[in-house]
Amino acid sequence: MVLADTVTDKRRLYGRKQTRPPKGERKEALECLLPRLEIKLPPHPSSPAAQTPSPPWGEGWGEGGEGGEGGEKWLEIGFGNGEHLKGLMERHPGRFYIGAEPFINGMAAFLRSIKDVPHDNIRVWMDDAIILADAMPDEYLDGIYILNPDPWPKTRHHKRRIVSQGNLTKFARILKPGGALIMSSDVDDLSEWMVTQASNHPAFEWTAERAGDWHTPPPDWIKTRYETKGADAGRKQTYLVFRKKENAE
Ligand SMILES: C[S@@+](CC[C@H](N)C(=O)[O-])C[C@H]1O[C@@H](n2cnc3c(N)ncnc32)[C@H](O)[C@@H]1O
Repeated sequence: MVLADTVTDKRRLYGRKQTRPPKGERKEALECLLPRLEIKLPPHPSSPAAQTPSPPWGEGWGEGGEGGEGGEKWLEIGFGNGEHLKGLMERHPGRFYIGAEPFINGMAAFLRSIKDVPHDNIRVWMDDAIILADAMPDEYLDGIYILNPDPWPKTRHHKRRIVSQGNLTKFARILKPGGALIMSSDVDDLSEWMVTQASNHPAFEWTAERAGDWHTPPPDWIKTRYETKGADAGRKQTYLVFRKKENAE
């Protein structure tokens, strides 16, 4: 695949990227697996490194794939400790997955968790997912997951929410026609925000058929620890499944 030539739109990433640095097995997994699995965007064309470009995902990655789902490519934005992403990799070995998580401890926990299982179908990005989205080709992905994104509850911080009209336009560009945008949250205000943003966007349509669908997890759902803790505390999870319209411009 070919990524955009340059990455110019370096936006500000809010929130913490690191608290205490990972130690022990997590540190080892980070040192061993991150260099192998991390996506490397192309250097600026004017830099010396641009003379010897190498594929950002590694040679041949994302091509072929076995069975009916063979070759599908899915992106999970903000995977936290990566339980959901690991579950997807195990359930769908014929698909290719890309996980974006800027928080180093989350990345280390995820890499530690996949150390001893097959992980040829995964690539990771340890920064703002929007930078990666901007560098992807048109109609590249079969689906995007955004699970429990940061809620940014204060009104003056709503512009930091990852689901916005501007970002939905970016997601629509990199999704194939009919591609899925699957979001979830246990914060009512954020769930309403995400439904409104995606429903108002011309490229997306909501797949819900009846009231109450948004409290029913899609088939084959993988719960994260975050979701389980929220449910134990009495919070209700909302599941929002949108599709990119077949005729979206
Ligand atoms: C509330 S946590 C949810 C983690 C996980 N999805 C889950 O459901 O357990 C939100 C995650 O999104 C990540 N995040 C925030 N902004 C992001 C961005 N612009 N790109 C990628 N990840 C982001 C945070 O680092 C954090 O791990």
